[in-house]
Amino acid sequence: MIIRRAIFPGSFDPLTNGHLDIIKRSSPLFDEIVIAVLNNPEKNPMFSVEERCAMIQEILPEIETGSCDLVVDSFSGLTADFAKKKQATAIVRGIRAVADYEYELRMALMNRRLEPAIETVFLVAAEEFSYVSSSLMKQVFTLGGRVEGLVPELVEAKMREKLSTDGRG
Ligand code: PNS
Repeated sequence: MIIRRAIFPGSFDPLTNGHLDIIKRSSPLFDEIVIAVLNNPEKNPMFSVEERCAMIQEILPEIETGSCDLVVDSFSGLTADFAKKKQATAIVRGIRAVADYEYELRMALMNRRLEPAIETVFLVAAEEFSYVSSSLMKQVFTLGGRVEGLVPELVEAKMREKLSTDGRG
């Protein structure tokens, strides 16, 4: 049996409800989606790659994806190499607004050049999450703003924990 496998790559620092929306939307198109968490310590992330993967793993059972399986994995290096290693046929990315398109187009074209057999699939995010990004969530939360409804409850709790332990965002 041929498995239609996609990877959904990102920093996920942290996972937002916008990411969950894209995962749910892409699930009818694939048998398996690998949520591919980039190991990017040089970007000084709020959560380590292990913490990000563990959070997503804990949230997975709450995501309704029908018969599509969800897997969490981390990677370093090129997304195209990771997609090939996973024998994925597609790279899923969400587009929130027209501002995302130019950057996403450049990545999609570069990834196609690196791995011509792997297609990038763009999915349009729900309007209610069109302004939601991990970096905005971190900034607002760190400055004392409310982010409920925009990130999973577990993520909010972990951000609170993180702030109280090392005071950073
Ligand atoms: O959630 P993000 O931060 O927008 O995700 C960006 C990501 C991880 C998809 C992108 O930075 C990436 O693919 N990085 C891995 C290195 C790579 O493949 N670079 C060339 C992309 S064309």
